[in-house]
Amino acid sequence: MEKQKIAIGCDHGGFNLKETIKEYLKAHDIEFVDFGIYTKEACDYPIVAKAVANEVAQGKCDKGILVCGTGLGMSLAANKIRGIRAVSLENTYSARVSRAHNNANILCLGERVIGEHLALDIVDMWLKTGFEGGRHKRRIDMIE
Ligand code: RB5
Repeated sequence: MEKQKIAIGCDHGGFNLKETIKEYLKAHDIEFVDFGIYTKEACDYPIVAKAVANEVAQGKCDKGILVCGTGLGMSLAANKIRGIRAVSLENTYSARVSRAHNNANILCLGERVIGEHLALDIVDMWLKTGFEGGRHKRRIDMIE
């Protein structure tokens, strides 16, 4: 896996899974910055999504991971930031192709939707898969 720095964040619906993913990142020696939240107190997910998305859009981190209850609110909010391609995923095939074809730069997960073992498999696939470029780059350029 190429060396990369990850911006990670969650709301109260995704706190437990965010902590689990941080343990995975530490175990695999992957650098990360935690943008919160740091307790399970209820918060508004767009605030965290914006912080992580800005970090990635400005090139301070290579990729982002956002966890909420469904992954949906986080992806909707993150995609408002120019240059962000956030995807909410529930399977490893989409995880692989979202990187290889879509060059997704933020992964969103729903703690209330998938179990932690599947979530970690998705994280693993998503982080280790590179963008294929070529014809896919033309399409990403069209989105941008
Ligand atoms: C919080 O209750 C929940 O709405 C949030 O975590 C997320 O699922 C929104 O998309």
